[in-house]
Amino acid sequence: MERANLRRLVVMSLGAAVLLAAIIATAAADAELATSANLAFVPGESLALPAPTMAGGMPLMTALANRHSSREFSPDALPLQTLSDLLWAATGVNRPDTGKRTAATARNWQSLDVYVVTAAGTYRYEPAGHALVAVRPGDQRAATGAQPFVSEAAVNLVYVSDGAKMPGVEDAAQRALYDGTHAGIVAQNVYLFATSEGLAVVLRAMVDREALATALGLAESQKVVMAQSVGHPQAGS
Ligand SMILES: Cc1cc2nc3c(=O)[nH]c(=O)nc-3n(C[C@H](O)[C@H](O)[C@H](O)COP(=O)(O)O)c2cc1C
Repeated sequence: MERANLRRLVVMSLGAAVLLAAIIATAAADAELATSANLAFVPGESLALPAPTMAGGMPLMTALANRHSSREFSPDALPLQTLSDLLWAATGVNRPDTGKRTAATARNWQSLDVYVVTAAGTYRYEPAGHALVAVRPGDQRAATGAQPFVSEAAVNLVYVSDGAKMPGVEDAAQRALYDGTHAGIVAQNVYLFATSEGLAVVLRAMVDREALATALGLAESQKVVMAQSVGHPQAGS
C-alpha cells in the first residue's frame, strides 16, 4: 500500500475510533440517567416507573430469617428499577383486574398513600399507573425524621393516611388503629423487599408529624402515620 493511502487509512481508523468512543460515552451517560433515581422533577407531573419485576428475589423464608433494621446508609441513589420494584412491593397493584394491591387494607379502602422523599424531590406513589406524581421540589429528606441518617438514606417513604377514603370512621382511636395496621403491612412488605435486595431499611415512628405534614403540603384529611428509610447500606456496615 502506498504511503499516502496508508496514512489516510490510519487517520480514518483513528476518526472511527474517536467517534465510537463518543457514542459509547453518550450511551453510558444515557444509561446512567435512565437507571439513576436522580429523578426529573416537574411540578404536578407524573413520572412513569419502569414495569416492576414481580418475580425472583430471595426465598421468603430466607428473607424472614434475615430481616432486620439498619440505620447506616450510603448516600447513593437507588437505581430506578429498584425504586420501581420497591414501591410495587410496598403497595403496588398485584391484581390489575380488580386494582387490588400487595398490601391489604380494611374494606379495600386503599386509604394509605406512600410519599417518596428523595434528594431530587418529593413524590406520591400512584399504584394504579405505577407512577410517581411530583409533589414538592428539593431535598426534604431531613424533614422526614428526627434521626440524622434520614438525610443520608436514598429514599424516605412517608406513610400518609387519608380519612376522606375511610367512610364511617369518625372515632380517632379507631382511625389510629386502622392507620397503624395499614402502615405496618406496607412497612413489612418494604422490610422484606429491602432484605431480599441487600438494602438497609428502618421503620420510624420518631417523626415530627405536624412539621412533615406541612412540608408535604397535606390536606386536612391526611395524616402522617410513620416513615421508613431505605437505601444502600454504608460500606462495612
Ligand atoms: C412501629 C415501629 C416504630 C419504630 N420507630 C423507630 C424509630 O423512630 N427510629 C428507629 O431508629 N427505629 C424505629 N423502629 C425500629 C425498631 O427499633 C426495631 O424494629 C427494633 O429495635 C427491632 O429491631 P429489628 O427491626 O432489627 O428486629 C421502629 C419499629 C417499629 C415497628
